[in-house]
Amino acid sequence: MPRRIAAGNWKMNGLIADLAEADAIAVGAGHGGVEVVLCPPATLVAAMAGRFESVAVGGQDCHATAAGAHTGDISARMLADAGARFVILGHSERRRDHRETSADVAAKVSAAWAAGLCAIVCLGETEAERDAGRTLEVVAAQLAQSLPPGADAAHVVVAYEPVWAIGTGRVASPAEIGAVHAHLRALLPDPEIALLYGGSVAPGNAADIFAVPEVNGALVGGASLKAQGFLEIIAALAAARP
Ligand code: 13P
Repeated sequence: MPRRIAAGNWKMNGLIADLAEADAIAVGAGHGGVEVVLCPPATLVAAMAGRFESVAVGGQDCHATAAGAHTGDISARMLADAGARFVILGHSERRRDHRETSADVAAKVSAAWAAGLCAIVCLGETEAERDAGRTLEVVAAQLAQSLPPGADAAHVVVAYEPVWAIGTGRVASPAEIGAVHAHLRALLPDPEIALLYGGSVAPGNAADIFAVPEVNGALVGGASLKAQGFLEIIAALAAARP
């Protein structure tokens, strides 16, 4: 069975004072066979990773090389050194804001593996691509081009995040999620790789999403910033059929 993961992507949110919220998440996590991962901004990775055992910590991006003259960038090795075990790569906000291609993402995944990190690789179609009927073709190409050879369940998690569902409150329907996840599952190089859904996941829709076949967890943005809501999502995943 694929691992089951509830991952929180704090994006560019979180100050030292918000570590208390992470502590509250950690107190309620660690049950029901669900791995909980928090991906805070880079400034909080070291502080968070040293605070608790029940929640793993991840970065939100890394450079494709281990060190060098890249002002403002952070390497996978640095994230691992700070205590991270995961790193989100290829998030649509980075593909959009920093023009990251799937080839860039694949190079970063290789760097993550070299540093001993598990890569959470994000993909998803835009609204225009969905409207044009190109969803399955787009996500299949992103998957093929973003994963280096040798991807397996220990080193990769794939997150399907339709761009139009991120931060909009407009969650994809169970049928839409199911169609994409079934398509991706058949294309995965290792069938045990966990497939997460992301995009406006909230306590009120989590149980319906986790009931969709081939959904092994969620990558949660806004709703992971507050312990109460994120813990409800974690509980919904723990209660879903394995
Ligand atoms: P929201 O949950 O805020 O829609 O963000 C989803 C996301 O982008 C997680 O990576």
